[in-house]
Amino acid sequence: MSLKIIVGTQWGDEGKGRIVDLLSAQSDIVARYNGGDNAGHTVNVANHTFKLHLIPSGIIHPHTSGYLGNGLVINPKSLWTEMEMLRDLNIQVSPERLKISFAAHMITPGHIALDRAREATRGKGQIGTTSRGIGPAYTDKVSRNGLRMLDMLDLQHFEEKLRRHLQKVNTELSVNFQTAPLAVDPIVEDYLNYARLLQEYIVDTGDLLDQALQAGKQVLAEGAQGMLLDIDHGSYPFVTSSNVTATGVFSGLGIGIQPVEKVIGATKAFQSRVGAGPFPTEVEGEMATRLRGTGDKPWDEFGTTTGRPRRVGWLDGVLLRYARRINGLTDLVLTKLDVLSGLPEIKICTAYRDQNGVTYSTPPLGISDLDQFTPVYETAPGWQEDLTSVRQWEDLPENAQAFVRFVEQIGGVRVMLASVGPERSQVVSVPA
Ligand code: GDP
Ligand code: IMO
Ligand code: MG
Repeated sequence: MSLKIIVGTQWGDEGKGRIVDLLSAQSDIVARYNGGDNAGHTVNVANHTFKLHLIPSGIIHPHTSGYLGNGLVINPKSLWTEMEMLRDLNIQVSPERLKISFAAHMITPGHIALDRAREATRGKGQIGTTSRGIGPAYTDKVSRNGLRMLDMLDLQHFEEKLRRHLQKVNTELSVNFQTAPLAVDPIVEDYLNYARLLQEYIVDTGDLLDQALQAGKQVLAEGAQGMLLDIDHGSYPFVTSSNVTATGVFSGLGIGIQPVEKVIGATKAFQSRVGAGPFPTEVEGEMATRLRGTGDKPWDEFGTTTGRPRRVGWLDGVLLRYARRINGLTDLVLTKLDVLSGLPEIKICTAYRDQNGVTYSTPPLGISDLDQFTPVYETAPGWQEDLTSVRQWEDLPENAQAFVRFVEQIGGVRVMLASVGPERSQVVSVPA
């Protein structure tokens, strides 16, 4: 039995999609276990850039199947749009290849309206959500009022449930937020249509995954977001509403821990964050522009889902150690090493210092109050060479090799692979 897990170790956008694409070559099933269309996973293959929000990045390989687990919140319209986008590119998207858990929850325009309205009233405490209705859909799930994909299998029951839900949303919009109500009938008509289109994809994915694992198939679990956005272990309240960490795989796919072979952390060689919340190693000014890019290159740091400029900073080793602990990481993939070329020196945060001068090597009292700490940096010498055509470890400049080893030492976990560009081939295996 073989289950590999890919989890982002930062605040998202570490390059998970491209790593999943790479590892999909040896996988039979790629399964998303958390989040919704707040995710934006980019995969570059043969001059085409795929931007996937819901469908697992493995779908691009013709031999894999993609599963959407019960831990997701699914906007049927986004899902259908993505399915059509892939079909237009001659990628087969059939019920044989794509399977949706009956127990996944559904996002409606009601959740999106509530997401916007709740954000607007948060004032300075705004989270900077992706406005995709993620928080309100998960809120309905835990308060046991949610709509599930299963509901789509009985159209009459679905219509009644959807109408009740939209009426409740409209009451909340007008009473709590003095906002105009949503027109219910067009939404119901739309959603009944998506129900007809998606019905044949809705199955018990947990059971199918179990059968596949028992039969010796290779399964890859694709995390969305980054673990510092995890609802339990992230920088609460500036987080998303799901379990991003590796532990979310088991509740979000309906399988046990027995088949786990590797937990691979996707880590960018620096750090980024979209939306609000603490970011101790954030940089501003010229260095921020240098790390972010100006938007002329496809991989520059602008949100895949919302287009917002990402906040950027140096790699935070304290939080990397935290990610190792919470996820039980066995390996790291270090992405975007090429972006650091040309810098005279590179900083890595190795500890935090508080106002009294006390230093910490792990985040004290979790990571919600990170703003009170100053990062303690160590500085590594940079390299001038362009890395984008390097494919062998021996061909990496000495200082780039030393940087990779430094990340291993600071994080306490081995780097198995470093990437030097967004294309499939732009990776370097790192010897143990
Ligand atoms: P994800 O959400 O973790 O899948 O990451 P995103 O797709 O949102 O953002 C990562 C961006 O970096 C995408 O544009 C990728 O194509 C790009 N990318 C990934 N790895 C590398 C790399 O090693 N070098 C460069 N230059 N770009 C990369
Ligand atoms: P991928 O999978 C980066 C952030 C939002 C916001 C917070 C809550 O591409 O790494 P939400 O809409 O989830 O309620 O927003 O989480 N966020 C992400 N940031 N990458 C993502 O996904 C994200 N998904 C959500 O910006 O700060
Ligand atoms: Mg992304």
